[in-house]
Amino acid sequence: MRKKVSIIGAGNVGATAAHWIASKELADVVLVDIAEGIPQGKALDLMEAMPIEKRDSHVVGSNDYDATANSDIVVITAGIPRKPGMSRDDLLNTNYKIMQDVVGKVTAASPNSILIVVSNPLDAMAQAAYKISGFNRERVIGMAGVLDSARFRTFIAMELNVSVENVTAFVLGGHGDTMVPLPRYSTVAGIPITELIPEDRLKSLIERTANGGAEIVKFLKTGSAYYAPSAATAEMVEAILKDKKKILPCAAYLEGEYGINGLYVGVPCKLGTRGLEQIIEIKLTAEENASLQKSAGAVRELVNVIGC
Ligand SMILES: NC(=O)c1ccc[n+]([C@@H]2O[C@H](COP(=O)([O-])OP(=O)(O)OC[C@H]3O[C@@H](n4cnc5c(N)ncnc54)[C@H](O)[C@@H]3O)[C@@H](O)[C@H]2O)c1
Repeated sequence: MRKKVSIIGAGNVGATAAHWIASKELADVVLVDIAEGIPQGKALDLMEAMPIEKRDSHVVGSNDYDATANSDIVVITAGIPRKPGMSRDDLLNTNYKIMQDVVGKVTAASPNSILIVVSNPLDAMAQAAYKISGFNRERVIGMAGVLDSARFRTFIAMELNVSVENVTAFVLGGHGDTMVPLPRYSTVAGIPITELIPEDRLKSLIERTANGGAEIVKFLKTGSAYYAPSAATAEMVEAILKDKKKILPCAAYLEGEYGINGLYVGVPCKLGTRGLEQIIEIKLTAEENASLQKSAGAVRELVNVIGC
């Protein structure tokens, strides 16, 4: 039997995640949305691409959760995206209400699934999904760090005119302006980028990474980024379904790691068939640790507002 991935929210990120997942033949995909016709239409359109792509993934769309029954993974992208001038935090109350609607239905239909939360503000929505679902932390993971580090990798590759394949990058912290890109642990073909990029240039790449989402919102005006966010989601789905034991930066519920307790924050995670299989703890300098704690503080403020 093929694996089954349901995606709640058939908007830009959800539908494009379905596209990546089906075109890599990772699983059958169920798209769910409250908008009538949208998930059905997008799913059928994707199905009709499969003969061309030579893939046998099935994609179906629905407005209810019956079709999602017994999913291996459920990706939650339901929620409003930001518009120019808005921060991710401005989405908090609206998307929390949506999360309350969605998570109960998802867990009733797929009690053994692993949840990947994408809706913003990411860390707070992951925390909401964790609390509402009652799942253990291994099965509720937030997507942000894969995207943020992919943005950092892109800018590093552009700066040095090297293959993106050569670049690894490391981003810690919450998915917001306080995220913590770590140049010390970011490399080009194994060489730390601190050896290759002058400090002032590096500072500007880090700033561009932290504002990477806003840069795209400013261009699009009517919504936020979705190609890279959905590709990042598909990478997490693949790591879990194929039990790759891949280390990726994800939002995870910390229970004392990095000195943070009871909060979703972005950290390096090993993803495999059980979901979050390990949190990797690395030594931070005093400055890096201060930035991480500040970022966690920003997440904590949001979580307190919604009482999660
Ligand atoms: N974590 C990240 O790195 C990251 C990156 C990009 C976007 N996002 C977030 O992902 C979310 C989706 O972004 P998008 O660009 O796809 O937005 P979008 O507006 O294109 O799609 C959102 C979809 O959710 C649906 N929806 C709303 N309420 C629902 C409910 N109760 N049940 C089911 N579906 C519902 C809407 O009808 C819409 O189709 C936003 O909150 C955005 O901020 C997160």
